[in-house]
Amino acid sequence: HIPVITIDGPTASGKGTVAHKVADHLGFHLLDSGALYRLTALQAIRRDTSLTDEHALAKLAEHLNISFTGEAVFLSHENVTDAIRQEEVGNTASKIAAFPSVRQALYGLQLGFRKTPGLVADGRDMGTVIFPGAQLKVFLTASVEARAERRYKQLIAKGFSANMEDLLMDLKARDDRDTNRAIAPLVPAEGAHVLDTSRMAVDEAVAQVLQWYAA
Ligand code: CDP
Repeated sequence: HIPVITIDGPTASGKGTVAHKVADHLGFHLLDSGALYRLTALQAIRRDTSLTDEHALAKLAEHLNISFTGEAVFLSHENVTDAIRQEEVGNTASKIAAFPSVRQALYGLQLGFRKTPGLVADGRDMGTVIFPGAQLKVFLTASVEARAERRYKQLIAKGFSANMEDLLMDLKARDDRDTNRAIAPLVPAEGAHVLDTSRMAVDEAVAQVLQWYAA
């Protein structure tokens, strides 16, 4: 039985960083499920696919040619690690993620990440839909302000321009879409440990998750 740890939460809650460090510590594989939605979004933007054409978007998701090497993400052999982190791509990802057939198209791909010795999966529905039988489920949250500040620093560090007011607005809109959509809405999974990281350093959050896992 291959162990899975799920880490779900809203945008910029620190899931990605925490998931990465937990996976490193345990020597587990990592699934950044948001990257799959972002890759689909990037492809849709590049191909000028209508963001209301569910069928066409699902086809894109189904035929993504992607690979992960360490922290790098490749789309048809092109390194798109930074390109998928743009806010436009994140916002588009959250729009197309509301389509059931897009989610369905990415379902099997996500299950395939579960390999020995184990998996840390981060996203919105890892504990509720994709890996409901996970050994440990974590729901990471933080205040809107703390998250906007983190996202601001992240974007600036990547050389993108960012504006705090726009970020706050986008963040709230994304929270609203992710929480209120009909399919796989963002809610803590049954039995999930909720961790508010507003005033917590990354390493403290990592230590807490590892402690829960060891318990
Ligand atoms: O980095 P951030 O937390 O902003 O976003 P992400 O985890 O990269 O995901 C981008 C978008 O994909 C989210 O706003 C969600 O709408 C969607 N997503 C989802 O629906 N289900 C997942 N398991 C992961 C992401």
